[in-house]
Amino acid sequence: MTEQTRSRVLDGQVAIVTGATSGIGAAIAAEFARQGARVVMTGRRVKDGAAVAERIGTNAVFLPADLTDHAAPARLVDTALDRFGRLDCLVNNAGIPGHPVPIAELDLAAFDQAIAVHVRAPLALIQQAARHMVPQRSGTVLNVASVSGLRAGFSGPDYSIAKAAMQHLTRCAAVDLGQSGIRVNTISPGPIATGIQAKAVGADAAAADHAADDGVPVFARFLPQFQPDPRIGRPQDIADVAVFLASDAARHVNGQDLTVDGALTAGRPWSTAAAEHAAIAQAIATVKANSH
Ligand SMILES: NC(=O)c1ccc[n+]([C@@H]2O[C@H](COP(=O)([O-])OP(=O)(O)OC[C@H]3O[C@@H](n4cnc5c(N)ncnc54)[C@H](OP(=O)(O)O)[C@@H]3O)[C@@H](O)[C@H]2O)c1
Repeated sequence: MTEQTRSRVLDGQVAIVTGATSGIGAAIAAEFARQGARVVMTGRRVKDGAAVAERIGTNAVFLPADLTDHAAPARLVDTALDRFGRLDCLVNNAGIPGHPVPIAELDLAAFDQAIAVHVRAPLALIQQAARHMVPQRSGTVLNVASVSGLRAGFSGPDYSIAKAAMQHLTRCAAVDLGQSGIRVNTISPGPIATGIQAKAVGADAAAADHAADDGVPVFARFLPQFQPDPRIGRPQDIADVAVFLASDAARHVNGQDLTVDGALTAGRPWSTAAAEHAAIAQAIATVKANSH
């Protein structure tokens, strides 16, 4: 879609986007603003957040917050209301990488942190947003989970379990708040080129964000084996879907999990399966021939 053909489908909306200092959140905040929304962005890194907000322009404000601080959700929602007078969309996008270790070796402090960032903070933010959205009888919530919430083995168990809980948080909130005209949906991305992969192995956050594309050739080596569209996703792929789900075009979509994953969770690439079918057929034919 070119800039010229894009209509401003979020005109008049006010949104909160968490985890907007980099990667997917920064792309969502920028695309929301391009589509006419005013955006309150958050994250812990003050300099990076201010820089992203400045690039977006006057429709974005950055409020530094650590979402594991229990006072942060109310402060964020109050800022959106004070600054822009309303709140139409909450995007729970902030996230931290998992720890790819066997269950027996999983540090429970890391597990607590995964739940705090991916489940407790989004739940608290939904509670705070609902205070305003329920009387307004409108609003949307987007929870950015992961294919790791649907399939084990793509990240650490802490991350996978937390993302599965986030996907169910969506359903629990949708059946409740749906009665008040509020839509709550999940976006579950497959692999997306951001700094999160380098952060997972301990890289400094700014350096990891800067080198977000460095992992692309590595993914290009192994994605074709299990992802039918072997291209690694880009933050904009998620931002475009977020705009759709926040817009009136998705008015009857509620409680759903939209995977954006090049068919990763649909099944194995047909070429992989076909090669296996051929090998199995040949082995059976050999067994049959030898049995006569
Ligand atoms: N990239 C992928 O392959 C992929 C795939 C599936 C799902 N996802 C999900 O997509 C979301 C965005 O990730 P990304 O890939 O864009 O990675 P990213 O660039 O590292 O973004 C993560 C964001 O979360 C913020 N954050 C982390 N902990 C926080 C905390 N305690 N309080 C406030 N903000 C916090 C970070 O900001 P600060 O560092 O400034 O705090 C950053 O803005 C995450 O939920 C991730 O799990 C990513």
